[in-house]
Amino acid sequence: MDLKIKDKVAVVTAASRGLGRAAAEALAAEGVKLAICSRDRAAIDEAAGQIRKKFAVEVLSEVCDVSSKTGIEAFKDKVIEHFGTCHILFANAGGPPPGKVEEFAEADFRKALDLNLLSTINLVNAFLPFMKQQEWGRILASTSISVKQPIPTLALSNVSRAGVVAFIKSLSLDIAHLNISANVLAPGFIMTGRVKSLLQDRAQREGTTYEEALENVKNTIPAQKIGDPEDFGALCAFLASGYASYITGDTILIDGGMYKGIM
Ligand SMILES: NC(=O)c1ccc[n+]([C@@H]2O[C@H](COP(=O)([O-])OP(=O)(O)OC[C@H]3O[C@@H](n4cnc5c(N)ncnc54)[C@H](OP(=O)(O)O)[C@@H]3O)[C@@H](O)[C@H]2O)c1
Repeated sequence: MDLKIKDKVAVVTAASRGLGRAAAEALAAEGVKLAICSRDRAAIDEAAGQIRKKFAVEVLSEVCDVSSKTGIEAFKDKVIEHFGTCHILFANAGGPPPGKVEEFAEADFRKALDLNLLSTINLVNAFLPFMKQQEWGRILASTSISVKQPIPTLALSNVSRAGVVAFIKSLSLDIAHLNISANVLAPGFIMTGRVKSLLQDRAQREGTTYEEALENVKNTIPAQKIGDPEDFGALCAFLASGYASYITGDTILIDGGMYKGIM
């Protein structure tokens, strides 16, 4: 199925590995041109090289720490100098450290807000003007199942990501008439480096092994398995596609049924 986004330009942040990388690859498979970033020059260049080789698309790779507003501005300048515009934005970042509410000081909460909330706001402010100009755009913000069902050992993540949902929902109201959608992706457990290190942390806290922690998590998921990054990438590509123009302001779970609420 042709998703009707060939030759569009997508900005995918935090994309050297994990969910960002999966989103970048799924878009590249549709013939989308990519601007990707992460904090590590060697890692992001290597990812770009592998994507170019596998999908034969143009990929710009840059170093950018999305916690930094000036870093995002500099990244935007490079993207616009190279591609002239941005059609699709996948706003993604690393995750804050695990821990319960009382384990963190105010400075930790500020850092998490910079990493997961302000990065999304700053990325949108950087790239939205180009979407408005061309009256076509897709904004996707990466969060977590924790926006629906907080995870006890991820206090910083629970707090910082809820604001992303409010921001994207508010934004969607203002831009829908310009053919620009804005949605939130809320993954449960998708197997990446981050999930592996969270499982290690759980094992330590619970005094069990990594394998037992993995089994315990699987038992909370009706699908009885951890998700595959490719499934996450496919969802991103669909929401960025020409077929998803009437889906906006939504928070879409991809969690194997892990969220237990009705709404
Ligand atoms: N995987 C899941 O199941 C899951 C579930 C819920 C939420 N999430 C959230 O989704 C996001 C991505 O998770 P993941 O599983 O893909 O993590 P991951 O496997 O650890 O990958 C993180 C990626 O982000 C980059 N990165 C980290 N901090 C960055 C920063 N400040 N600026 C720019 N790039 C940065 C890393 O590259 P560099 O080190 O080179 O910067 C890497 O490419 C995280 O916020 C995570 O908490 C993931």
